[in-house]
Amino acid sequence: MSYTYQIKSLEQYHIDYKKSIDDPAAFWSSVAENFSWQKKWDRVVDWNFKDPKIEWFVNAKLNITENCIDRHLATMADKPAIIWEPNNPEERTRTVTYAHLHKMVSQFSQVLKNNGVKKGDRVCIYMGMIPELAYAVLGCARIGAIHSVIFGGFSAQSIADRLEDAAVEFIITCDGAYRGGKDIPLKAVIDDALIGNKTIKRVIVYTRTRTLISMIKGRDVWWEDEMDHAERQLEANDIINFPAEEMDAEDPLFILYTSGSTGKPKGVVHSTAGYMVWTNYTFVNVFQYKPGDIFFCTADIGWITGHSYILYGPLSAGGTSLMFEGIPTWPDAGRFWDIVDKHKVNILYTAPTAIRSLMSYGLAPLEGKDLSSLKILGTVGEPINEEAWHWYDEHIGKKKCPIVDTWWQTETGGILISNLAGITPAKPSWATLPMPGVQPLLVDESGKEVIKKDENGLLKGNMCIKAPWPAILRTTYGDHERCRTNYFSTYENLYFTGDGAMKNENGFYRITGRVDDVLNVSGHRIGTAEIENAINMHAGVIESAVVGYWHHIKGQGIYAYVICSHIHSDESLTQNGILQTVTRIIGAIAKPDKIQFVTALPKTRSGKIMRRILRKIAEGETNNLGDTTTLLEPDIIYDIIKGKL
Ligand code: WTA
Repeated sequence: MSYTYQIKSLEQYHIDYKKSIDDPAAFWSSVAENFSWQKKWDRVVDWNFKDPKIEWFVNAKLNITENCIDRHLATMADKPAIIWEPNNPEERTRTVTYAHLHKMVSQFSQVLKNNGVKKGDRVCIYMGMIPELAYAVLGCARIGAIHSVIFGGFSAQSIADRLEDAAVEFIITCDGAYRGGKDIPLKAVIDDALIGNKTIKRVIVYTRTRTLISMIKGRDVWWEDEMDHAERQLEANDIINFPAEEMDAEDPLFILYTSGSTGKPKGVVHSTAGYMVWTNYTFVNVFQYKPGDIFFCTADIGWITGHSYILYGPLSAGGTSLMFEGIPTWPDAGRFWDIVDKHKVNILYTAPTAIRSLMSYGLAPLEGKDLSSLKILGTVGEPINEEAWHWYDEHIGKKKCPIVDTWWQTETGGILISNLAGITPAKPSWATLPMPGVQPLLVDESGKEVIKKDENGLLKGNMCIKAPWPAILRTTYGDHERCRTNYFSTYENLYFTGDGAMKNENGFYRITGRVDDVLNVSGHRIGTAEIENAINMHAGVIESAVVGYWHHIKGQGIYAYVICSHIHSDESLTQNGILQTVTRIIGAIAKPDKIQFVTALPKTRSGKIMRRILRKIAEGETNNLGDTTTLLEPDIIYDIIKGKL
């Protein structure tokens, strides 16, 4: 198998880029020809950003699992689709061939059907990183159910909110999950989320940790029993292949919740055909994937990176995707390097936060590890600082592996701006050039294109995109207006990313970070309003304001300024109480790193909290607070500075 649409030179990149902009329909239909369709499209794209209404491969019919599995069986049945590395290095690795993946996904599709799941139903998946998670996701896609994977670190309350928002009726989970030295009691968290819930019809539970759990009569069933039954049913009918549902190109494939600047996470909806074409195209081009390469994306499938570059991108390309259950620092900080050595990984795709964390252990964890199989490295999730980039280049890539810095978002479905490994130039900390089909535009606050360069010859502004690429989000679940106001109304006729960026004389982009009230903590997006809402739930808290500050490992740390009606004489008790509350309401990932008790917050006369000032104080830039004349009570700033942690 080779990829006819793989860009092989810088010159070809420029030619393809130009074609994709001059005639998107011709360009994307020639890429889409390489997939398997039950019916081809009538038109390639219809769109307007006003509503917004975006359709790709209009009226085409397909099933994404036929593209990710069935079409590879003729030539690659015995080739590994997924290589699974367990949390505990002593446990056996599992290799899932395309033939086995086909069998498991077919069987699980039958299980879903037996349990009453139908096309269009929403299915919540809350599992650890095990192959069964892949079967669950792909099983949903095969029967046309919409999966909504929730990361294992979210709390019962967060799950309950998401279940309600998407009117979910079915859940797939595990008794527990292993992550490093911990067992996470997934089923117990689901049980808490379901207290009082009347809409959930079925919970399917896979046994992973043998943790004692309660199974509720009439609602909860065991994965293993259901799979055995489905296997017998399929065999009795001489079927090994559960038929794939015919899906419209624009049928929703999944919902994935992500944080914005308001208090409530949004359910980003991706559709089928455009998402498939884009994840495949970007996977093959950015990573310059060659058949047989072992691709290791270290993300969790609970985030978009796992959806697009552990599952759909690699599998649609007939690739081999390494899936890791554990964490980079357990049993020790050499775990990634052991995995690279053991499985002869060729492409490693990870996050700057993981690189910084591993850097902090020095070079000892690398000793004796053979990393010579590595050809290409990648990063995603947040801006990579130059120090981390150089460490990755020198100590992991041994200066021989191109590094791709891939910028994208949950809403974009796949990579939008990145160098192509070894094909287009790399520049440390710069995502560089847009993918074909992507037209970035930097605008000022009023939405005008930035044309004036700064003293360093750079254009700086808010990052927008002028036209849709195939995997742009289609809506936010149950609330299209929210999708419009969030992404398409800030600037007329533009998709607004929420990121700030600069552009140099070569047309390279560097993403500088969010310009809205969204934090990026260890590569995970969390809205400040969401954290404030959780803190404010704690008894005794009157008001709070949350900002980000530079954290040497997490990229951004969470700094909370909190006004309490009373603070325990042992302040740490009140602090721990707040941390517990945040963990309960959102999950441990949203716990503030620092909590400073204050008596007042800096506000404008109209009552708006001046976060700019709080951000500067948290960063320690107290000499340069900017204009404070609009503050209601300018003096409180001095107290806040005095109490800075
Ligand atoms: C940030 C993750 C700089 C950015 C795929 C974006 C990056 C947010 C990069 C999306 C990068 C992601 N350089 N910043 N290479 N990649 N970001 O939705 O602020 O979890 O808006 O998607 O991460 O985070 P999300």
